Amino acid sequence: MKIKDFKVERWMDAYETKCEINVGESCVDSLRLDELLEICGHRNEFITHLMAMKLTYGAIEGSDYLKKGILRLYKDVSPSQITVTHGTIGANYLVLMSLIEPEDEVITILPTYQQHYSVPESIGAKVHKLYLDPQNGFLPDLKALRHLVNDKTKLISFANPNNPTGASMDEAMLKEIVEIASSVDAYVLSDEAYRGMNHEGERFTASIVDLYEKGISTSSMSKTFALAGLRTGWVCSTKQVIEAVNKMRDYNHISCPMIDDYIAALALENKDKIIDRSLDIIRTNLEVIETWLKENSGFSYFKPKSGPVIVLKYDLEMDSKTFCKKLLDEEQVLVVPGETLDIEGHFRVGIGNNTDNLKEALKRIGRFYRKLCS
Ligand SMILES: Cc1ncc(COP(=O)(O)O)c(C=O)c1O
Repeated sequence: MKIKDFKVERWMDAYETKCEINVGESCVDSLRLDELLEICGHRNEFITHLMAMKLTYGAIEGSDYLKKGILRLYKDVSPSQITVTHGTIGANYLVLMSLIEPEDEVITILPTYQQHYSVPESIGAKVHKLYLDPQNGFLPDLKALRHLVNDKTKLISFANPNNPTGASMDEAMLKEIVEIASSVDAYVLSDEAYRGMNHEGERFTASIVDLYEKGISTSSMSKTFALAGLRTGWVCSTKQVIEAVNKMRDYNHISCPMIDDYIAALALENKDKIIDRSLDIIRTNLEVIETWLKENSGFSYFKPKSGPVIVLKYDLEMDSKTFCKKLLDEEQVLVVPGETLDIEGHFRVGIGNNTDNLKEALKRIGRFYRKLCS
């Protein structure tokens, strides 16, 4: 199987250990185990439980305790509608590999996580790319989507909330997408890795699984719950989709690590407190960004609705990879070039991490830009 380089992962792998300040990161400041236990309490029980844990393969599709925590993120699903995976990346991969065939067509809404189009392309499917328009608040043009679907459309896929723009589709818009998908009996894969971090109002955007019988939600502990190191994610969908995913999963997972399963379940039991922390960090950093934007001409941004990433547009005739590499070389600050995320002329900044680091990075980015313009 031939597959394109995963541009954003290549960029991060190449440079994330070669910078002084990394503000390209898309997670909320990852929790240390002792911080997590501070939030969750029951430290002694936790240690006793781990010490007594016999390290078998564990529950193959995820423990009942973990599934119970995942179920609380949706309205009306049963444990058989969930399977636990190696992050959202594992969840997306398994869904695409188990449902898509070479004769299928897939519609992917971009910018997004590259898996959503490169995996179906590698299978041989025809992929239609629908680009989000900044003039439309980075929301999809549903008329254009309607024109793209046909009898061969097997799947419509997107990330909601979106990485890297922080845009978020509300329930009404998702229902329109469902209506379009159901007109051709297509699945909808909604990558919900960033769900639960709406900056205003209800924290959780509607999930596709609660709106459509052929809806597939993928997500994980990485972003909203600041626990990327657990590498724990899941697929939530119909029993039939889960069966198809599990058939594929047998060939590359067997099961996910038992310790990670237990920690993820504990975290989900305390999800509201963890999300309080995530949103506190994001809101503080958003203010830092807005103050900086007022003091630094040459940059603009779309105010995100959700999640820990934003894209900044810079006012220069320079491709984003060159811009970001020069920034790294001259100021040792790592951001992510828009080119790697299919949004040229921009760069991505994570707003889920240490505020002092963000302030220092922004100071250096401003200095770098002024030098470029002089
Ligand atoms: C939209 C989206 N989906 C999936 C992933 C993979 O994340 P993980 O496997 O850690 O859940 C990422 C990571 O950046 C992402 O941005």
